[in-house]
Amino acid sequence: MKLADLIRIGKETVSTLYPEREAGEMVFAYLEEAIGTKKHTHIVEPEYEVIPEKAEAILKDFNRMAAGEPLQYVTGKAWFYGRQFHVTPDVLIPRPETEVLCNTVINRFLANRACKVLDMCTGSGCIAWTIALEMPGAEVAAVDISDGALRVASTQDFAEEISRSGAQSPQFYKADVLEAPKELGQFDIIVSNPPYVMDKEKALMRTNVLDHEPHLALFVADDDPLIFYRAVAQWATKLLKKGGYGIVEINEALGEQTADVFRQAGFANVSVIKDLSERDRFVEFTRIK
Ligand SMILES: C[S@@+](CC[C@H](N)C(=O)[O-])C[C@H]1O[C@@H](n2cnc3c(N)ncnc32)[C@H](O)[C@@H]1O
Repeated sequence: MKLADLIRIGKETVSTLYPEREAGEMVFAYLEEAIGTKKHTHIVEPEYEVIPEKAEAILKDFNRMAAGEPLQYVTGKAWFYGRQFHVTPDVLIPRPETEVLCNTVINRFLANRACKVLDMCTGSGCIAWTIALEMPGAEVAAVDISDGALRVASTQDFAEEISRSGAQSPQFYKADVLEAPKELGQFDIIVSNPPYVMDKEKALMRTNVLDHEPHLALFVADDDPLIFYRAVAQWATKLLKKGGYGIVEINEALGEQTADVFRQAGFANVSVIKDLSERDRFVEFTRIK
């Protein structure tokens, strides 16, 4: 089938759900991931042919996109901090605001890369891998409760970068962070982007998130939205070294309440940090005693 025909069918199919312009962008982004063509390929090479088996698979993927499945699940790829991560419906699609969390840690520890880091609720492993790769010398451990997520996180393919940079791959462990802290040693840094969307906020979410991303990764009960932050505080009380640093991503509606969890647990220098859109998005803390 000609690429130009595939593009036309793709736009028609995907625009049954998305506005025409967005549908066009999605079709081009998908084709670039799937077969490496660019927006202009069908114009400069009007005879460009896609082999029938490939075209058939692409048409099926257009139907998945028209059914609301996020593009990243259809291609199996998501960009985070300049790297391509493998994603499946077992993991949350990494979000740009979480890059700010990684950046905060990376900049703060410029002078001391040889540190031990714990990532709680790791999902795709995007935070754990980013810190491990950006801070060669760091030893990163990461936990999640989901077997599916751990499979995805532990099979991200950064072998080439690891061998080039001398960085170490993170170690992934199964753990329920709502239970007693796992004996994983002592850490200089604890990071977490745990579930924090309240059930009552579901009504505000796009259906492609609600219907396709794992609810285990997203939601907390309305009557106890800070449950995971109490868990992080409890783990950090036991596993963070004196002088150690912690940072968590938070629900923008609960900035000061989340900070209070860490103040009440005895941490120092607790403050709320805003994201690129000026919303309360992170809480940082240090352990001094
Ligand atoms: C918001 S996602 C974050 C994923 C990843 N850190 C990121 O930033 O994209 C939260 C993760 O917490 C995990 N999770 C949920 N409940 C958990 C629990 N009780 N113990 C450990 N992990 C849990 C989910 O499986 C999910 O991978």
